Amino acid sequence: MRDSGRRRSASLPVFPWDTLTDVTAAARAHPDGIVDLSVGTPVDPVAPLIREALSAAGGAPGYPTTAGTAALRESAVAALGRRYGVTGLTTSAVLPVIGTKELIAWLPTLLGLGATDTVVVPELAYPTYEVGALLAGAAVVRADSLTQLGPQTPALVFLNSPSNPTGKVLGVDHLRKVVGWARERGVLIASDECYLGLSWDAAPLSVLHPDVCDGDHTGLLAIHSLSKTSSLAGYRAGFVAGDPAVVAELLAVRKHAGMMVPTPVQAAMVAALDDDAHEHEQRARYEHRRELLLPALRAAGFTVDHSEAGLYLWASRDEPGRETVAWLAERGILVAPGEFYGPRGLRHVRVALTATDERIAAAVARLA
Ligand SMILES: Cc1ncc(COP(=O)(O)O)c(C=O)c1O
Repeated sequence: MRDSGRRRSASLPVFPWDTLTDVTAAARAHPDGIVDLSVGTPVDPVAPLIREALSAAGGAPGYPTTAGTAALRESAVAALGRRYGVTGLTTSAVLPVIGTKELIAWLPTLLGLGATDTVVVPELAYPTYEVGALLAGAAVVRADSLTQLGPQTPALVFLNSPSNPTGKVLGVDHLRKVVGWARERGVLIASDECYLGLSWDAAPLSVLHPDVCDGDHTGLLAIHSLSKTSSLAGYRAGFVAGDPAVVAELLAVRKHAGMMVPTPVQAAMVAALDDDAHEHEQRARYEHRRELLLPALRAAGFTVDHSEAGLYLWASRDEPGRETVAWLAERGILVAPGEFYGPRGLRHVRVALTATDERIAAAVARLA
């Protein structure tokens, strides 16, 4: 790093959470402590059966394979079938990743995209889609509809249903239309499905579900994280599945780059993917927290838009979101300003359901 002109970070947006220092201090000053509903980090302990699997594999001395163990790939295929109705996947069309943020941030680079390519991200989106495009030197377009794109042919389109931050679920007709459009143009779709198992008032579908893709996975990737559904954020555990040719290409590059999931984490992922009971329990915890927080926000004068699935409530007091963040911080509640996710989020805040029952109860009391 000889001069600032060579600093890679200079080409990236400001890390949004670094702008919350003042409101975080304000929320921390509450006499009964902060209720942090900003980041969306899981708080419930990892299920014992997953911890035991991690620990049992703790003695393995050798390098893991980038492709993942056969057991892991089989468990991922089986879980996608059992939980989400995905059919027609083979184990060679699945690849473990070191948490899905890693894959999303490097996907355009791994695919060899560059200055002549465009990556489409949702209007309101998890910021790493844009970061991934910028790391590859590609252009970014924010769009939620095909008409917004006009005649251009992007290289890659990110979808995220249920959405972070809005909780919006894309219907089957919309998904079919996007898949058909992408197929005609040879555009790759990367569908981030990390909240697929956390739906409340809607029935989200995987892009690999036969009702969406007619059983043909060409040009489609589904990205699955175990961070939220199994509270494995600290393990860094996810996988990508879909078009076998694209998965093989990702594997070929990732092998060179050392992008391997540690052996004990792979074993823990098998345990998590094979067991649906802990996943249902986790889902029920979030559902309960949502049932408390959603009416409390409404009673306090908030409008809550979308939010039919996922781990966030997309809320507004019909004022600039930064003012809402400050208003909540005075009550010891920290949330994320909607502008973190795109210019269309200026008048919203994102309220995460990821706090303990005790902290959610504290938030409800403070909103009353
Ligand atoms: C939409 C979305 N995708 C991906 C991730 C990354 O999850 P992880 O890297 O823990 O798998 C998150 C995390 O909050 C997210 O909200």
